[in-house]
Amino acid sequence: MNLGIDLGTSRIVIYEPRAGVLVDEPAVVAVDRASGRLVACGAEAEEMLGRTPASIIAARPVQKGVIADYELAEKLLRYYLHRVCMNKITKPCVAVSVAEQVTEVEQRAFIEAVVSAGARRVTLVPETVAAAIGADMDVSLPRGQMIVNIGGGTVDASVLSLKGEAVCASVRGAGMAMDEAIMRYMRTTHGLLISELMAERLKIGLASAVPCEDERTMYAAGRDTLTGLPRKQLVTAQEISESLSDTLLSITDMVRQVLEITPPELSGDIMENGVCLTGGAARMPGLPDLMRRITGISAYVAENPAQCVAIGAGRALQYASSFSAVYDLGNFSYRLSDTVTN
Ligand SMILES: Nc1ncnc2c1ncn2[C@@H]1O[C@H](COP(=O)(O)OP(=O)(O)OP(=O)(O)O)[C@@H](O)[C@H]1O
Ligand SMILES: [Mg+2]
Repeated sequence: MNLGIDLGTSRIVIYEPRAGVLVDEPAVVAVDRASGRLVACGAEAEEMLGRTPASIIAARPVQKGVIADYELAEKLLRYYLHRVCMNKITKPCVAVSVAEQVTEVEQRAFIEAVVSAGARRVTLVPETVAAAIGADMDVSLPRGQMIVNIGGGTVDASVLSLKGEAVCASVRGAGMAMDEAIMRYMRTTHGLLISELMAERLKIGLASAVPCEDERTMYAAGRDTLTGLPRKQLVTAQEISESLSDTLLSITDMVRQVLEITPPELSGDIMENGVCLTGGAARMPGLPDLMRRITGISAYVAENPAQCVAIGAGRALQYASSFSAVYDLGNFSYRLSDTVTN
């Protein structure tokens, strides 16, 4: 069994080339503090965030694209691998995506977590390469293609050509940085403390990357900073969109910087093809429009943007020769930088 796994800051997605997407859940684990026993995973554990008694810890094992809590990451992976491979005799081969520009120590943490969670063989695939394959781009062509993956914890951008990354960059601060910006805005402007999940709900419900005539409103529930009592506050789509402008600017700035260091021949190709946007946060309305305004290059959102990375990782693995330590990936010979066989 071959699996593509995207263990991200916000979500864990597992893809099997024949069966499709098997798992798409929040990457949250809840464990008993004293015994370390697993209490809940995924959506159920996400519900517990910020609501746990002292005896239970609910947390995201991956923060800003890297494993922040190894034991929780392993528990999460073990739970879902077990669910996916329930009646299989052999352990699965796994391709797991990692953000660009993470250190070797951080890469190794991913490999070890996946192996000890029950994989037979692990291969790392850079997140943008996986996203490009998942978005059905033919990355083997001698043409520059640009992909920008906007996730929960990191924004990764790269220019791919001839199965490799010509230029790549990564910044920390994506979907969750937007949630934080909304929390800050609510605190300073309305004197209301809200939770991260509430901020995310407001973002998904109201945010737009470009100003638009939007009349939508939502109630934000939280705690008043002055009275300390629970309170509701009506917020408009325009307020939320404005509070995100700085975070969005840092994303477009990063894309601009990548374009600035892209060799001119590849730049010309990107100009023709446009920039492909993937990742959950690419679903924000108006994002392609904003990219075009700032960089002058057209952009489009891939189909199923939040699942592209896992799909691409799974497909890349299909081409990996299972016997050879030297990768012969046929169409897909990337910098699959590390592997561990059990
Ligand atoms: N419709 C939407 N509008 C804006 N943001 C959205 C929308 N849907 C999801 N998001 C955001 O997308 C982010 C999750 O994206 P994704 O699942 O790609 O992240 P991830 O892979 O877990 O993180 P990373 O790759 O950074 O480690 C969350 O911050 C979520 O709030
Ligand atoms: Mg991701």
